[in-house]
Amino acid sequence: MNGQPVRDRRATVPDPAVGVGHSHAKAILLGEHTVVHGTPAVAFPLPALPVRAIARRGLHDTDFGPGAAGHFRFSVGAVGADGTESGPRVAVEEALRRWGLGGEPVEVRIDCDIPLARGLGSSAACAGAAVRAVADLYGRIVDPGSLYELVQCGEQVAHGRASGIDAGAVLASGPILFERGIARPIAFAVDADLVLADTGVPGSTQQAVAGVRRRLARDPRAARGQLDRADALITSAAADLAAGRTAALGAAMLEFQGLLAELGVSTPQIDELVRAALDAGAFGAKLTGAGLGGCVLALAATGTAPAVRDALRRAGAVRTWTVTAQSLRSSPTPIPEREITS
Ligand code: MEV
Repeated sequence: MNGQPVRDRRATVPDPAVGVGHSHAKAILLGEHTVVHGTPAVAFPLPALPVRAIARRGLHDTDFGPGAAGHFRFSVGAVGADGTESGPRVAVEEALRRWGLGGEPVEVRIDCDIPLARGLGSSAACAGAAVRAVADLYGRIVDPGSLYELVQCGEQVAHGRASGIDAGAVLASGPILFERGIARPIAFAVDADLVLADTGVPGSTQQAVAGVRRRLARDPRAARGQLDRADALITSAAADLAAGRTAALGAAMLEFQGLLAELGVSTPQIDELVRAALDAGAFGAKLTGAGLGGCVLALAATGTAPAVRDALRRAGAVRTWTVTAQSLRSSPTPIPEREITS
């Protein structure tokens, strides 16, 4: 997968007054939206799209929000905060409060290589990197469960109601099956690569999650049917993934895309990219993340990813990334110490 390598500042500027934290993007293979309503979901980390956070004590000049390039800075503490609520800020404030350091003035600078508002987990990854940086600054060891909870505090702000799949995946080192609030490693055994394509359209997770909730609430009986269908589909697709049944997994992705369209989160651009991937021979394709813009994910037989990528670009994708099966297989999958729970 292509992506800009990030210079580890700690390697060049040793400074005990500075804390450093890292995280990375994620992509959801199956289960976005329905996971908010209790179904399982499968996701994987994208370490080639990293986030680095640097924390230092004190309040410093001005805060500035994320620009197109994903660089931003915020302060927490009595003075200097600009009053806006952002996921990373909320996560850091909660961390300091839990550590008995509430009100400590801290500045966090974020360098985020993840395209924002594209369903790739930028909010969770920024929160994860920020909390890790502040923990590093104060010499705190944060266990995975607590880190997950802190990122989730930020995610509730970013998503309105966050299932925990994003927090779980940006903190994981390999593919995960997220079920009833618990993230467990899952084997990526299919013989296919994944191609991600950016529609170039930013999507609001909060708006998409609220829209799906409204749609489900309109007809609870139909909603139950859709969620049961999603649950069965994701459960069998997770088994296909772990058992190496590539064509079955691709078919499940396509069926799930149909369900997401019924839930109102697909768009003509997404539909066009899905079609282009299938025409180029992909086993399956679907939106990934919240939809209403964002990215499409295609499952391409090993060796065919370049053809699928080119087709996606011709169909309007503004950028693409390829994640090889090899990289997902070789990831050190275990989630350390104990499973992450919500
Ligand atoms: C967003 O990446 C995934 C959603 O299912 C929201 C969530 O699970 O919190 C749309």
